[in-house]
Amino acid sequence: MNGVTGRMGTNQHLIRSICAIRDQGGIKVSPGEVITVDPILTGRSEDKLKSLADRAGVARWTTDLNEALSDSKNSIFFDASSTLHRARFLEKAARAGKAIYCEKPTAVTTAEALRLAQVCEDAGVKNGVVQDKLWLPGIRKLRALIEAGYFGDILSVRGEFGYWVFTGHDEDQPAQRPSWNYRKEDGGGIMIDMLCHWRYLVDNVFGPIKSISCRAATHLAERVDEQGNSYRCTADDSCYATMELKNGILCQFNSSWTVRVRRDDLFVMQVDGTKGSAVVGLRECRTQSLEETPRPVWNPDVSQPIDFYAGWKPNAEEEEYENAFKVQWELFLRHVALDEPFPYDLRSGARGVELAEAGLNSCLERKWIDL
Ligand SMILES: NC(=O)c1ccc[n+]([C@@H]2O[C@H](COP(=O)([O-])OP(=O)(O)OC[C@H]3O[C@@H](n4cnc5c(N)ncnc54)[C@H](O)[C@@H]3O)[C@@H](O)[C@H]2O)c1
Repeated sequence: MNGVTGRMGTNQHLIRSICAIRDQGGIKVSPGEVITVDPILTGRSEDKLKSLADRAGVARWTTDLNEALSDSKNSIFFDASSTLHRARFLEKAARAGKAIYCEKPTAVTTAEALRLAQVCEDAGVKNGVVQDKLWLPGIRKLRALIEAGYFGDILSVRGEFGYWVFTGHDEDQPAQRPSWNYRKEDGGGIMIDMLCHWRYLVDNVFGPIKSISCRAATHLAERVDEQGNSYRCTADDSCYATMELKNGILCQFNSSWTVRVRRDDLFVMQVDGTKGSAVVGLRECRTQSLEETPRPVWNPDVSQPIDFYAGWKPNAEEEEYENAFKVQWELFLRHVALDEPFPYDLRSGARGVELAEAGLNSCLERKWIDL
């Protein structure tokens, strides 16, 4: 597990996924068989690796990646380092014959993302990319409704993602995201970050995307980094995208690190269909059917008589939902150990990068871009 001393690597991948799988005794795959995990942490800083290994109860860590890769007992290479470092790590590990699993985006250009997919395919190694949002409880509830035909024909989808990321100018309010996110030259930008997610989410849940129109902005020009130095933001911190699907559904997704939240969650998506609608958050999914749809009247002279929030029914909690990253990890481990299908490979990850690149081009050229 490489680059896991960072935000995503530590919390979602090491602690919530791999340590959780270890602590539950592995993945039971048949009455007599269990897939077990024995992680080794790799990175640059001995101090950080040691302290993370101690905290997570992991016995093995090293700053010598080559040594870890040469050990045939280590069968999977996972990378959660910052995006621009990904390629050289993945190439090295694929050539060492390791199965590859990594964070998104795999690269910042489609050509590079496709090249990495090809490197893995040429090396004959299994490979996968994190597409965690597919296993969020809210999205799983939504997919069940779609499969049951709840919506009739889906007409449109509106997603609102974001929250206020502090600039760090006020010492009491340090930035809560890494500074490289706001520097294009370091692989930052909300378009490359979030459009990757919207690609696999939309493709898998609503249908393949045909084209995109996108406007990005860098609303805040200066932020303060981890060392307390101010720097110029060269990457977009917000992105306003409209996507047309091959089946005619229209999707609008706003993504922003410069908005304040007055909605149910950090990501909320409304799906409207002929027979009903749903409002989906990370965990919740509330519905309103055609029969339950209120009949409002536009009248600014009186206070709104309808409580619009009250007309939505929460979806019943029928099952315990596991952490989305852990669910995908288990699928990948089964793919490696048992050869079960895993469609979330580097080639599908490259489609996310393609949408981000098309979004950027749409913005630069001020026009719709077909994928
Ligand atoms: N799936 C998601 O929802 C999600 C969310 C946020 C970030 N991410 C992705 O996860 C990746 C990491 O993001 P983060 O927010 O955790 O960033 P971070 O800055 O917190 O962590 C980056 C990690 O990379 C390591 N690193 C940097 N340079 C390295 C080098 N030369 N050698 C070895 N390690 C190096 C750092 O030490 C750190 O451990 C990014 O690609 C990002 O796009 C995914």
